[in-house]
Amino acid sequence: MVDPGQDGAWDPAAYLQNARERARPFLDLVSRLDVPAPATVVDLGCGEGSTTALLADRWPAARVTGVDSSAAMLAAAPVRPGLEFRLGDVRDWRPESSVDVLVSNAVLHWVPGHERLLARWADDLSRGGALAVQVPGNFRAPTHALLADLCRSPRWAGRLADVAPSPSAVLEPAGYLDVLTGSGLTADVWETTYLHVLTGPDPVLGWVRSTVLRPVLARLDDDAAAAFTAEYAAGLREAYPPRSDGTTVLPFRRLFAVGTRPS
Ligand SMILES: C[S@@+](CC[C@H](N)C(=O)[O-])C[C@H]1O[C@@H](n2cnc3c(N)ncnc32)[C@H](O)[C@@H]1O
Repeated sequence: MVDPGQDGAWDPAAYLQNARERARPFLDLVSRLDVPAPATVVDLGCGEGSTTALLADRWPAARVTGVDSSAAMLAAAPVRPGLEFRLGDVRDWRPESSVDVLVSNAVLHWVPGHERLLARWADDLSRGGALAVQVPGNFRAPTHALLADLCRSPRWAGRLADVAPSPSAVLEPAGYLDVLTGSGLTADVWETTYLHVLTGPDPVLGWVRSTVLRPVLARLDDDAAAAFTAEYAAGLREAYPPRSDGTTVLPFRRLFAVGTRPS
């Protein structure tokens, strides 16, 4: 099984191009955490650590640790007291003792079978502790469906069929609810579709370049990547036409799950 989370380099600068829009779901997610004074907070798949720093701002007395498998992302992480970053795979992460707050934002769609990981993380929570995860729920949206179709098209299937994004990468909201309640947590699960208003030429392509398109292009040499990108961009322009004011709207569905271990 190909693991797109590990395949190809993450680029913190490209990822942060839409920093404000990308931070919003994180803030919406953690706003539902009700853990007044956690001692240990972990951010699994913390990326370049800007969201981890927000956790440290909220709980300055806590020991806050970010874990990510991308050295490039961690190299851009903030350095400050109370914040610690570790290079590692979230699948291998094990806490030294029980955890009060566990956050994983926009990561688990890279981890096949992550419902088992979630159940294990639920077991790692202290009494009154909580976990909070957010995953994109847009695998059937044109951004992903067009990309999947192109990867499986006769021209590209030989090289790309196995990296085509699949809706099975995430559960439906009820699936996350079942995992959390099945692990003895009280669950708060919801979904939101954000309407991101983007500017500039081919802005949807610009958005996906740093995420779902990244492992696909990593498979191709420069010429093939350019040819593939041109085909994909044409489809995106049709699916997401510019509005009369020149902006382009990207609807983006996201799924949220917060589980709390009763005290
Ligand atoms: C879309 S970014 C999200 C970063 C951050 N959580 C945020 O909200 O901005 C996904 C991150 O997950 C990391 N990642 C993907 N699979 C991983 C794994 N199995 N173990 C650790 N990190 C992983 C990537 O390296 C990348 O930094």
